[in-house]
Amino acid sequence: SAPPHRTERLDQDHDGIRRAARLLRQGGLVAFGTETVYGLGGLATSLKTVEHIFRAKGRPSFNPLISHFASAEAAFAEADMAIPLHDMAWELARRFWPGPLTLILPRRTGSRLCEAVTAGLDTLAVRVPKGRAVEELLRLTDQPVAAPSANRSGRVSPSTARHVLDELDGRIDAVLDTGPCPVGLESTVLDLTGSQPVLRRPGGVTLEELQETCGPVTVAGHDGTGGSISRPNAPGQLTSHYAPSLPVRLEATDLKPHEAFLTFGARQAEGASPALSLDLSPDGNLEEAARRLFAALRQLDHTAARHGLTGIAVAPLPENGLGRALRDRLERAAAPRPAEPAPPSA
Ligand code: TXA
Ligand code: MG
Repeated sequence: SAPPHRTERLDQDHDGIRRAARLLRQGGLVAFGTETVYGLGGLATSLKTVEHIFRAKGRPSFNPLISHFASAEAAFAEADMAIPLHDMAWELARRFWPGPLTLILPRRTGSRLCEAVTAGLDTLAVRVPKGRAVEELLRLTDQPVAAPSANRSGRVSPSTARHVLDELDGRIDAVLDTGPCPVGLESTVLDLTGSQPVLRRPGGVTLEELQETCGPVTVAGHDGTGGSISRPNAPGQLTSHYAPSLPVRLEATDLKPHEAFLTFGARQAEGASPALSLDLSPDGNLEEAARRLFAALRQLDHTAARHGLTGIAVAPLPENGLGRALRDRLERAAAPRPAEPAPPSA
C-alpha cells in the first residue's frame, strides 16, 4: 500500500477549491463533497492516479468508477452517443444535471478515460454532480475526475469530511470540506446502453422521477441483472456493501435484547426495550432519512461497545421514492459478508 502521508483539509473557499484543483491536475487524490456523498477524486485520464484510487480504497480493480464532469457536453464527449436512447440521454441530462444521476453509456473509441476507470468494460459511467464547490472544482480542473465514494471498500459511504478522514487520513492528498452532503445517498445509476433504460442502483433521483422522463424503466436486481436485457452482470453490484460492523436485521417489528433500533416516522417496536434508538426522521420525511442514514450507521457502530449492542434492528421503511434507495443500502448492509467477494463471472 502507499506510504502514509499527511492529508490536507481544505476549506471550500476560492483558495481551497483552487488548491484542490491544482492537486487533482498534478495527479493527486482529493476527496470532495458532492450533493450525494463524498467522492475520492483523481484524474480519470491518468492510469497511475486511477491505480492510486483503487489502492487507497482497497477496491477490487474489476469494479469500475464513475467519471465526473462539469457539463453534459464534456461527459457525453467520452461516450458513443450513436445509441437508440440518445434523445433520452440528453433529456435526462437537461432535467437532472447537475444532480444525483449517473448514466451508463457505451464508451467511445478513443475516449480519454483510461481503461482502468471502466475496469476494461466497453461502457462508462458519467455524471455531473451538484454543489457550488464541486461544480467550481470540476470547472477549474477541466478534466474528467474519477471518484468512487470516499470510503474503504465495502464500508459505509461518507457524508462528511470527518467520515472521509476516519478511513482515508494519510492515504489521500487532501479533502475539500464542503460540509454535510445534502442528499446523503449515492447517485442513481441508470444504464442507457440497451434499447430501454435499466435502473442499476437506486439513489438520489427516484424511479418515479425517472419514469416521468423515460416512461418504463426496468429495475435490475441486486446483482445488476434483470429485466429483458440479457447482459453480463455489472461489476460492482456486489451484494454485501455498506457494511457496519454490527449485524443488521431488516423489517423488524419487535426487538431482541441488546439490539439498537433504527426507526423511521416514530415507529415503535414490540419486545425488548431498545439498547439505543435512532429515528431517521420522526416526521416520516424520506429526504431527511436519506441525509441521515450513513451517519446513523456509523454512529451505531462507534457506540456499539459502550451500549453493549449486539445488532441493529431496522424498522420497515416505505418502498416508494427515496425509500427504494434507503432499503437498497440497508439490504446490502444486512447481506451476508463473504470474506473475499467473488469476482463476477464474465
Ligand atoms: O453518488 C455517487 O455516485 C458517488 C459520488 C462520489 O459521485 N460515487 C459513487 O461511486 O457512489 P462508487 O464507485 O462508490 O459507485 C459507483 C457504482 C458502482 O456500483 C459501480 O459498479 C457502478 O457505479 N459502475 C461504474 N461504472 C459502471 C459501468 N460501466 N457499468 C455498470 N456499472 C458501473
Ligand atoms: Mg461506493
